[in-house]
Amino acid sequence: MAIPELVDCVQLGTMRQVMQCGKTNPPSRSLLLDQMAWLIIRVAIRGPIPNGPVHARPLVALLDGRDCSIEMPILKDVATVAFCDAQSTTEIHEKVLNEAVGALMWHTITLTKEDLDKFKSLRVIVRIGSGYDNVDIKAAAELGIAVCNVPGYGVEEVADSTMCLILNLYRRTYWLANMVREGKKINGPENLREAAQGCARIRGDTLGIVGLGRVGTAVAIRAKVFGFNVIFYDPYLADGVEKSLGITRVYTLQELLFQSDCVSLHCKLNEHNHRLINDYTIKQMRPGAFLINTARGGLVDEMALASALKDGRIRACAIDVLENEPFNLASSPLKDCPNMICTPHSAFYSDQSVTELREMAAAEIRRAILGRIPESLRNCVNKEYFTAAGGVRFPANFPQPPFQADMNGAGFAAFNPAASAVAASIGVHSTTVEPHPVVPHSTPHTTTHSTLAESGNHLPESKEVH
Ligand SMILES: NC(=O)c1ccc[n+]([C@@H]2O[C@H](COP(=O)([O-])OP(=O)(O)OC[C@H]3O[C@@H](n4cnc5c(N)ncnc54)[C@H](O)[C@@H]3O)[C@@H](O)[C@H]2O)c1
Repeated sequence: MAIPELVDCVQLGTMRQVMQCGKTNPPSRSLLLDQMAWLIIRVAIRGPIPNGPVHARPLVALLDGRDCSIEMPILKDVATVAFCDAQSTTEIHEKVLNEAVGALMWHTITLTKEDLDKFKSLRVIVRIGSGYDNVDIKAAAELGIAVCNVPGYGVEEVADSTMCLILNLYRRTYWLANMVREGKKINGPENLREAAQGCARIRGDTLGIVGLGRVGTAVAIRAKVFGFNVIFYDPYLADGVEKSLGITRVYTLQELLFQSDCVSLHCKLNEHNHRLINDYTIKQMRPGAFLINTARGGLVDEMALASALKDGRIRACAIDVLENEPFNLASSPLKDCPNMICTPHSAFYSDQSVTELREMAAAEIRRAILGRIPESLRNCVNKEYFTAAGGVRFPANFPQPPFQADMNGAGFAAFNPAASAVAASIGVHSTTVEPHPVVPHSTPHTTTHSTLAESGNHLPESKEVH
């Protein structure tokens, strides 16, 4: 993907900062702090149309980040992109609160009903991620704001990270490597036995998966290969999935906890499963079992976990997510538990997955701008609460294509072939489009660019299949 040379990005946060989106590395915060309150740098790629109407472009804001270099090429012909770098709505500039029609957000900001009320023009929020428990989606719908997520990105990374954590708990690799780094000399079998005490064999142990969705399934497939006897609990799935995967289904959480040597959480956090793992359910676990949480911190009562780790009821745990993020382990009850591996909500991360994720999120905002809300959105998670009859047009002053019942984007192409060509040229692509672009095995792994966009083999937006 080409790095845009021209700047069309605004920072609107607490604001003392200006940055040029499109640069590979955003400038450090300290460098930016003394800049003016906020500034729009706009070197238009096209000058204003002489003698013609000039459409104000909708404002789209990245709420809790600074780097828009991937989003910019996808949105620059249809929106002005701002970044706020905020951790709460109190840090968001008034201009964004009043004018932003679209918002992109990571997981480091929370939008309650009260927060959502502050946005006066917002029509769509896209979570750059799959979990959306940090947005009150019902309140958003009542305010006419569609909330979308990006499901499916990084599934392999989260599953691989989960396996990595499970293997570390069984093989104690993390602790053994730390011993070596700290200079501990391990001479002979006696020493080794002492150092590696607790290393366990995997084959034959039972791994209990709570929530057999995308990640849970990917973990199940991997875990089988390591010799785990895999069982799962997921009350929302129809019967039969266990047959397809060759794993065992149990029908209560209690049964899963009772049977598992290692429990791995993979359900979405919702109002029904907050602190699913608590004092009471920990007592249902096998004494000395392992616990892994790469799903959401809110699924586990940290106080109960800390106490179970300290008295050995849980032998060790590995967690990628805490209830309160960004991470501050020092203020968590888990801070002095030695038999714990804690990673900073990084399970999803690979250079490739994040590029893909950000492209997918920006493409959803683009669909919102050019189509209808919620019909044109691919991953609207509050559609069921969305009451605006017939959807909302976005934004009011932007020319709109007629609604296409087949929602295949052709309406937009017919309406605005030039914009469609721009989308195609910059690599806006469907992530669910079939067939997937074929990237030859010889293609080197890339760290900063999308392999999909680079392959040049994507279908233009006008041919996306939903
Ligand atoms: N750590 C990370 O970096 C990271 C990245 C992506 C996703 N996640 C988290 O991983 C989890 C799984 O993501 P996914 O994409 O596989 O989600 P998914 O929606 O595909 O699957 C979730 C599954 O959990 C099941 N479920 C819901 N409530 C349940 C309950 N109380 N008990 C048992 N099962 C229940 C659902 O039926 C569904 O099958 C989510 O919590 C998500 O937020 C974490």
